[in-house]
Amino acid sequence: MNKKTLKDINFENKKVIVRFDFNVPISDGTITDDKRIKATLATIKYLQDHNAKIIMLSHLGRVKTEEDKQKKTLAPIAKKLAELANYPVTFIDETRGKKLEAAINNLKAKDLLLIENTRFEDLNGKKESGNDPELGTYWASLAEVFVNDAFGTAHRAHASNVGIATYIGDSCVGFLIEKELTMLNKIVLNPSRPFVAVLGGAKVSDKIDVIKQLLNKADTVIIGGAMAYTFMKALGYSIGNSLVENDKIDLAKELIELGKEKLVLPIDYVTVSEFKDIPGTNTKDCNIADNQMGLDIGIETVKLFNAKLQTAKTVFWNGPVGVFEMNNFARGTEAICETIANLKDAFTLVGGGDSAAAVGKFHYEDKVSFISTGGGASLEYVEGKPLPGIEAIKNKL
Ligand code: 3PG
Repeated sequence: MNKKTLKDINFENKKVIVRFDFNVPISDGTITDDKRIKATLATIKYLQDHNAKIIMLSHLGRVKTEEDKQKKTLAPIAKKLAELANYPVTFIDETRGKKLEAAINNLKAKDLLLIENTRFEDLNGKKESGNDPELGTYWASLAEVFVNDAFGTAHRAHASNVGIATYIGDSCVGFLIEKELTMLNKIVLNPSRPFVAVLGGAKVSDKIDVIKQLLNKADTVIIGGAMAYTFMKALGYSIGNSLVENDKIDLAKELIELGKEKLVLPIDYVTVSEFKDIPGTNTKDCNIADNQMGLDIGIETVKLFNAKLQTAKTVFWNGPVGVFEMNNFARGTEAICETIANLKDAFTLVGGGDSAAAVGKFHYEDKVSFISTGGGASLEYVEGKPLPGIEAIKNKL
């Protein structure tokens, strides 16, 4: 990578503004998954060890109304971070202004300060998501150096990443971004073969580019999850009331033609009559009855997918193959986790979001090579798209 990293910059006594991705699930004020927070600790420690004054920012969710602000405050993150970093975190419940500026002026070396949710600025004419130059310039004016370590947000061009990087004197990426790219490059650059990709999730439309790209790069591309029904309909099977994107049928046909035997689709399903966590029925073949919907892959498909994965030396997995949050439809996704976890001498990378949550739910976190903290960002990187949050960082001299 030709971008500056932490080791290229002298942080001694400098004010350093750091973009993290603290966009974590919160339920009733409690953080239910702190992986993304833990993933920032190495960079925080390095900056503290090098006597930086650390000003942190992040978004949380999407902020569309004044009411959203209550649930989307970063206050619980500040508390959790203080606990994990074992150092007090000053939380400023504003995104700009005198209170913030005074608190920054009071920072001593090693101190940690967290600014309120950057997307509160979206109520101010989409200033954050629209990468408004006034906002980027303002945040850049608060510090001397910018560190971007928000891999999960690197595919966005917002004021808090691209904006600050554009208007500040010096910038670099943090340890998390470095690690994510090193791991993803094992997929993108020279994967050990056979290379098997497993793609699931709801929509074909979200994954078109990555499917195309992987049909070029991988030896096998397995498709599961609700998006498989669009492919099955394209092949002429009946899919009952299963989720489908009718406007993507032609595209699915194109991908089937492009993929030929590389593309592996389900051969049976677990179906029910309504979207509820109740016991389902395994279909006899690829067809689903009119009053039924598929919510998981069936037993024969589990065997087929396992057989395809068995010899893999590289695996990229993004998206569950069923509604794993419901116990009656979790078997397929759990089986994929188990197979991937038990592969010998394989590099296995799980793209963030739902598949990362599934690996956690079934307790295989320590048995895969790497779990990316970025769902969308890791997909876009595998698609070969430039990530604007990283592109905007200064090049090594
Ligand atoms: C994510 O969770 O994918 C990132 O934090 C980006 O969030 P966004 O999709 O709301 O921009």
